[in-house]
Amino acid sequence: MNLLVTGAAGFIGSHFVLRHVANHPEDTIVVLDKLTYAADKSFLDPVEDAITFVEGDIADQALVTKLIEDHSIDTVVNFAAESHVDNSISDATPFLHTNVIGTQAIIEVIKEHPHVRLVHISTDEVYGDVGDDDPSCTVGDKLNPSSPYSASKAAAEMLVLAARRTFDVQAVITRCTNNYGPHQADEKFIPTVIRKALADEPIPIYGTGKNKRDWIHVGDHCDAIETILTVDWKSDQRPIFNVGIDREFENIEVAKMILRILEKPEDSIEFVEDRKGHDWRYAVDSSETRTLGWAPKMEFEEGLRQTIDWYKEKYS
Ligand SMILES: NC(=O)c1ccc[n+]([C@@H]2O[C@H](COP(=O)([O-])OP(=O)(O)OC[C@H]3O[C@@H](n4cnc5c(N)ncnc54)[C@H](O)[C@@H]3O)[C@@H](O)[C@H]2O)c1
Repeated sequence: MNLLVTGAAGFIGSHFVLRHVANHPEDTIVVLDKLTYAADKSFLDPVEDAITFVEGDIADQALVTKLIEDHSIDTVVNFAAESHVDNSISDATPFLHTNVIGTQAIIEVIKEHPHVRLVHISTDEVYGDVGDDDPSCTVGDKLNPSSPYSASKAAAEMLVLAARRTFDVQAVITRCTNNYGPHQADEKFIPTVIRKALADEPIPIYGTGKNKRDWIHVGDHCDAIETILTVDWKSDQRPIFNVGIDREFENIEVAKMILRILEKPEDSIEFVEDRKGHDWRYAVDSSETRTLGWAPKMEFEEGLRQTIDWYKEKYS
């Protein structure tokens, strides 16, 4: 494959590229990343000789066209996004630019290059939250996003689905649950708990701490994307793949696990004013994706220990 991977100086995209280069050294990889505050280009240092890195914006249609043509790209994996819900509550403008206009710019280019496939990385947050006893969301369920972030991701999905229908572009969408692992930006929940615990500072937990998330290790998410790339999209016409683990933890449980691993006291937890519109629980049914042969491998506690080790190094 000749891949254009967008947003790969960020958390999930960097893992995808590192793993892809290790497993498929024969493939061409071009990375396009705007290098926002969430990016760290040094994540890609181990493979810098094996990839082409381009700093730029996915909304720059001329640039995306040039990269696709110059490098004979046949596959685009779009990780590029503004991804932090709290930031979207403060100002949604950059979310509309990258998540919506940027996605449409990629669609405009692949419309003109119909041999190019697009995997658009979306999120389970597009379903909105579910109650404790509600069944897991399936890909046919209606979208009901709660935050400007998830609304922008839902809008991008609508554009991808419309392009499939109207222009017959080859594009699929993944809706994954919360990822954890090394490389995640400091502002996110797990890095924040680790950083505060290491500094012996109060650990801020929104609301009651009882909100539930289905944490998937970033490597398992990347494996799911790789599996979807192996599908013959002409015979398997499914447009959307849920990716999850079916193993939820309350935020407070995750914070306590981190404190236990770091041997720090639980009384450092401090409940703070809840996030506006805070989703209660996400749950996706990923059984359809598992029929492709994908299954998550990482146990949560083991993955969390590895993640903590990485942040210990970073924050030391
Ligand atoms: N982190 C999660 O738990 C999670 C879960 C499900 C889905 N997702 C989705 O996965 C994707 C990647 O998430 P992440 O957590 O790695 O995000 P991230 O914020 O860590 O990284 C995003 C990357 O995109 C780049 N970027 C931003 N705007 C850009 C633009 N206009 N053009 C080019 N590059 C741009 C940034 O510089 C950064 O490197 C996102 O689409 C997100 O919605 C994330």
